[in-house]
Amino acid sequence: MRRLDFPNGPLFGRRAVLGLTLTPLLFGAARADEEAAKMPPQPDDRFVFLTGPKKGQVTQIDDLPLGGPQVQAYPVSQDGTVRNETPLNLVILTRFDPAGLSEETRARSAAGVVAYSGVCTHQGCAVNMWSKDRDAFVCSCHGSVYDPRNGAEVLAGPAPRPLPSLALKPADGAVAVASAFSGRVGGTQK
Ligand code: FES
Repeated sequence: MRRLDFPNGPLFGRRAVLGLTLTPLLFGAARADEEAAKMPPQPDDRFVFLTGPKKGQVTQIDDLPLGGPQVQAYPVSQDGTVRNETPLNLVILTRFDPAGLSEETRARSAAGVVAYSGVCTHQGCAVNMWSKDRDAFVCSCHGSVYDPRNGAEVLAGPAPRPLPSLALKPADGAVAVASAFSGRVGGTQK
């Protein structure tokens, strides 16, 4: 009896087996990436620009204008996962002369850079404006004003509490997260 030989048979078979084996692994990897992108900022994360000509690039200290305004950014893990799957991870970075920072704020800064949640504590809008007159962050929704040199204390408006801050450390010309947010991120819960 002639033996039927299918040259590609075993290969297809192996592909099929590999496919069956890899599919759950790939789904698992995708799920892990999604989970990592939802995690709050972790120690050693750096930051990437949210917008502008350097969108998606790691934010270097020299990229930040001295004395404001703030730059909006998202944390990025050491393996390159941008943690932008939740708006609660929006961060604002600003650089100052360290001598002008309050003692507590200076202790959480690196090379004069301070990092705060970019989500207003009033109703959760992005804190996306800068007041030259007050040298301060402004939320455009209802006008809350936060003092970046002093722990993002509320200077005006309806915000009930300061913006949570991230402690930073220097990292090869950039800044990295040293410890988690100082408090709950987001607007007032109803
Ligand atoms: S949401 Fe920012 S002031 Fe209301």
